Amino acid sequence: MLNRKDDHIRLAQEQFHPSHFFDDEIEFVHQSLPLVHVDKISSQQSVLGKKFAWPFFINAMTGGSSKTKRVNASLAQIAKDCNLAMAVGSMSPIFKDPSNKDSYTIVREVNPDGIIFSNLNLNYSPSQMQEAVDLIEADALQLHINAPQELVMPEGDRDFSQWLKKIEASVKQVKCPVIIKEVGFGMSQETIQQLLSVGVKAVDISGRGGTSFTRIEGARRKQPLLSNWDNWGIPTPIALLEARAAFQASKKEGKITLIASGGVQTPMDVAKCLALGADLVGLSGFFLQLVLDHTSKEACRLTKAFQEEFLMIMALLACQEIKDFSHSSLIFGDRILNWAKQRHLSLEEFSTTKGR
Ligand SMILES: Cc1cc2nc3c(=O)[nH]c(=O)nc-3n(C[C@H](O)[C@H](O)[C@H](O)COP(=O)(O)O)c2cc1C
Repeated sequence: MLNRKDDHIRLAQEQFHPSHFFDDEIEFVHQSLPLVHVDKISSQQSVLGKKFAWPFFINAMTGGSSKTKRVNASLAQIAKDCNLAMAVGSMSPIFKDPSNKDSYTIVREVNPDGIIFSNLNLNYSPSQMQEAVDLIEADALQLHINAPQELVMPEGDRDFSQWLKKIEASVKQVKCPVIIKEVGFGMSQETIQQLLSVGVKAVDISGRGGTSFTRIEGARRKQPLLSNWDNWGIPTPIALLEARAAFQASKKEGKITLIASGGVQTPMDVAKCLALGADLVGLSGFFLQLVLDHTSKEACRLTKAFQEEFLMIMALLACQEIKDFSHSSLIFGDRILNWAKQRHLSLEEFSTTKGR
């Protein structure tokens, strides 16, 4: 298990690649008169009962070994210095060996007042989930669903038959917001409708385009896979469009917290996710590279440059607040157009500046 966590960090680093989908498939329509004053722009976002200083955060990665404790400490330092929320990786190791707890509690020690999410899979009872939340005084719990990863792992889970029932029990019983989260394979309209039907109020559609856990687990297998699993999943921008359609069909628009992640690596990617309707945007691979390749001072300087550039984009799009992203107009490339046509997703509302 400990080896697995260390392997994930090593392989995610080795396999990190620039994701081009946002650049290739989505463009903003430039407006020459952005009638805003840059000093009056606010990057704050209020969701999940909390006020986030920025609409992007460090998404779930790690914990469970001494190496990953150091990674979590570095990530938590960026979160603190740059006022970002942060999720820890799956806390399942604490139930196998309690001596692993400090690889998670370090995050709260470094950043006592920050917004922190805990993370688990569905193999735990609601009271164990609450224990994981309480250990790091988490502000929300991410429960990850990762069927492709489990299947590619020889030691992975094989029984997914109770997942929806377990999700229903956890959203009812855990005493903080529960986010149902993919791990880089994206969520479809149908998946989101299933989740909404059992009372889920927050989803992270974590789509394809960045870190691939079929590729990571594929590299750990003795028996190589015979098919190409590297590209399994729904690209992040498309999963956001699928989510909107599910919210509309269930008449729950504006009532569900929509989190985007998967291949988000630049301030422009973040802006595009917000324009597609995300409330918050998570970055994992990007922040992993940042802490592995740089001193903590340099990582913090680069994160602040990221934040500054995000404000530049807000100004150019005339966004005074995060909610104004819904007024920006977008042009889509062929892959998105083709998907939208075959899945009957309307893109019309994105081509005007009227707001959605
Ligand atoms: C090293 C590593 C470990 C991860 N471990 C977890 C995990 O424990 N729980 C989880 O929900 N997601 C985990 N993820 C998935 C990320 O949270 C995210 O959904 C996925 O990597 C896609 O985002 P990215 O392209 O920005 O990396 C992990 C990602 C990385 C890179």
